[in-house]
Amino acid sequence: MLGMTKKLLLALDHIEGISKLDVYRQHGGYAVLQKALKATPESLVEEVKKSGLRGRGGAGFPTGMKWSFLAKPEGVPRYLVCNADESEPGTFKDRYLMERIPHLLIEGMIISSFALGANTSYIYVRGEYYYIIKILEKAIEEAYAAGLLGKNILGSGYDLNLYVQPGGGAYICGEETALLESLEGKRGNPRIKPPFPAVAGLWGCPTVVNNVETIAAVVPIIQMGGDEYAKIGIGKSTGTKLISASGHINKPGVYEIELGLPVEEFIYSEQYCGGIRNGKKMKAVVAGGSSVPILPTELILKTAAGEPRLMSYESLGDGGFATGTMLGSGGFIVYDEDTSIVKNLFTFARFYHHESCGQCSPCREGTGWMEKILHKFIDGHATLADIDLLWDVQSKIEGKTICPLGEAAAWPVAAAIRHFRHEFEAYVNNPAAIKQVKHYYRLNKLEVVNS
Ligand SMILES: Cc1cc2nc3c(=O)[nH]c(=O)nc-3n(C[C@H](O)[C@H](O)[C@H](O)COP(=O)(O)O)c2cc1C
Ligand code: SF4
Repeated sequence: MLGMTKKLLLALDHIEGISKLDVYRQHGGYAVLQKALKATPESLVEEVKKSGLRGRGGAGFPTGMKWSFLAKPEGVPRYLVCNADESEPGTFKDRYLMERIPHLLIEGMIISSFALGANTSYIYVRGEYYYIIKILEKAIEEAYAAGLLGKNILGSGYDLNLYVQPGGGAYICGEETALLESLEGKRGNPRIKPPFPAVAGLWGCPTVVNNVETIAAVVPIIQMGGDEYAKIGIGKSTGTKLISASGHINKPGVYEIELGLPVEEFIYSEQYCGGIRNGKKMKAVVAGGSSVPILPTELILKTAAGEPRLMSYESLGDGGFATGTMLGSGGFIVYDEDTSIVKNLFTFARFYHHESCGQCSPCREGTGWMEKILHKFIDGHATLADIDLLWDVQSKIEGKTICPLGEAAAWPVAAAIRHFRHEFEAYVNNPAAIKQVKHYYRLNKLEVVNS
């Protein structure tokens, strides 16, 4: 038991009116910005490096290292772009943070922009989060009026303009290079890398793209210092993490946990998910958003070596994809014993097929094939050979595409077959189960593709 997590990001979320500038300031808001503006940009980057913070958008790349890669050619502007596209199924933590404490993100944006030498920055917000866009715009307006944005911020001589850009309405626009294309007014198609955005990003200029939670975490890091932040968490998984918990649990919601918390404690303690609803047993968990491999109960609670599984990048990844998974975006979906893994997988596959941008054949064609084969299972036409065909199709995507969306579609399929093959077999052999699934789709007016 790690005990109560010290909240760094959601310490103020319960305070009435905290989305307003005056209330945020009454509770210490923008004091860290004042401190940061007196420091040098290089020393701020150094603190972020020391903190060990890893990107909270999914890949977990060290933030300080990414910042130090930023090219600084003479006379060329640099940009900071906040990725608030948040479209990964099961992930809703950035929405919560922006809705409750928009000024925490704005304070983080100003400090980070100053550290990176950017004078223009953007928050690219998922288009469907229309009300969040309004909340952010209002908060930015307040910040301009108080001299926290614009020219000569708080008398420091530093200038920053901050803009909110509504997203293009596609999951792929969350991939950082597709996001930059979309921000430039084009269709959100991922770019071939290299060059990476740190060298040639927005308008061809050096750009850092970071997730909402990553940028918000810069505020407590500068407040307490990188070394202190690095003491929180476990090993190379430092600090706290927002987890959006959903599915068949008693208490779905957004939780701030200290990295290293045992998975079992997160699922069953009253402080977090409060156990499985209706007294059912747990069947499986998708720990980091729909893109990461699903794990059955025995593997999500313990590693293959029998160690308790922890909420950390390393522990969740232990065993590779044979027995492990990923922390990903922190979209934690819990399934009870009554869940059909095949039906759930079909829903994911439909999503990825719909969201593929179509540039690469393995992803464009593979996602369509996976959806069609899975439809055969739930429609009662599949044979045992279709399990092998599905495995074959997914295995031809990884490592052969421009961006990781193809892999994000393939990994869940591989994991479902690896850990729940018997459920696919049951669909082939059990007409009653198929009838039940068809009934479910009719009831929910869900369309299914032609097989
Ligand atoms: C298909 C796809 C969708 C993504 N969606 C998001 C997203 O909504 N938010 C996000 O922060 N990162 C998303 N990412 C990851 C970004 O490409 C990028 O790694 C991230 O914004 C970097 O920020 P971080 O280092 O702070 O995590 C997505 C990646 C892919 C491949
Ligand atoms: S992997 Fe899929 S989404 Fe990514 S660029 Fe290729 S076709 Fe587009």
